[in-house]
Amino acid sequence: MELNTIYYEDCISNISKRVPENSIDLIIADPPFGIKFDGKGAQYNRKSEFVVSGYTEITQANYLEFSRSWLKAIYPVLKETGSAYIISGWTNLKDMLIAIDEAGFITQNHIIWKYQFGVFTKRKYVTSHYHILFLVKNKKKYYFNKVDHYPEDVWEIKREYLPGKKKNSTKLPDQLVEKLIQYSSKPGDVVLDPFMGNGTTAVASIKLQRNYLGFEINPHAQEIIDSNIANAKTLKMD
Ligand SMILES: C[S@@+](CC[C@H](N)C(=O)[O-])C[C@H]1O[C@@H](n2cnc3c(N)ncnc32)[C@H](O)[C@@H]1O
Repeated sequence: MELNTIYYEDCISNISKRVPENSIDLIIADPPFGIKFDGKGAQYNRKSEFVVSGYTEITQANYLEFSRSWLKAIYPVLKETGSAYIISGWTNLKDMLIAIDEAGFITQNHIIWKYQFGVFTKRKYVTSHYHILFLVKNKKKYYFNKVDHYPEDVWEIKREYLPGKKKNSTKLPDQLVEKLIQYSSKPGDVVLDPFMGNGTTAVASIKLQRNYLGFEINPHAQEIIDSNIANAKTLKMD
């Protein structure tokens, strides 16, 4: 296995070819949410020239099949001591939960990530949370580094606004990904992200002395991911 590599290909058909079974300590997966997202809609308040094209969305009708396929692909590569965090909106959460159970994962926590979202609604509440599903393979063996004395399952972390900076679709806050890595891995461990997006997991892994492996189906994302990784390496050396 070639550590610290990102494959610009479909994770579903390639994880088993690229990643040996029982080799991954931590998986962080932030898949497309199946909500017709391209990151350019007016509600996202972004100029389209700052959004990388080629974002791959999944239709709602295909969401269960899609979730089944990639969860089935990641299960064998995770170590018995490992764990996985899956980020999900609420719209297709039911499909995700079914696919998680079918793949064989055990759900340890259902974390709510509360963020601010500047949309205006007239006749419904403003969505301001995501679900983060904390999954393990073996309840007795998984690694957990209890960083805080009383780690609650509701996290309030602000989304980053990066005006004038080019982005590939949605980006998780660095702070959020760093928290997941610190709680569920050790320096030198291998962190897999099947949906790399902007490379946030790779950047946090470099910063925290972990190894990363990733997949991203959109080849247009490579420029941004390369640049984010190069910056992270420079910061690490300072
Ligand atoms: C929600 S974004 C991930 C954002 C990322 N967590 C970040 O912080 O930048 C989902 C990404 O998955 C990619 N994607 C969709 N289907 C894929 C597949 N089958 N294999 C690999 N990547 C895929 C999309 O192109 C998109 O960049």
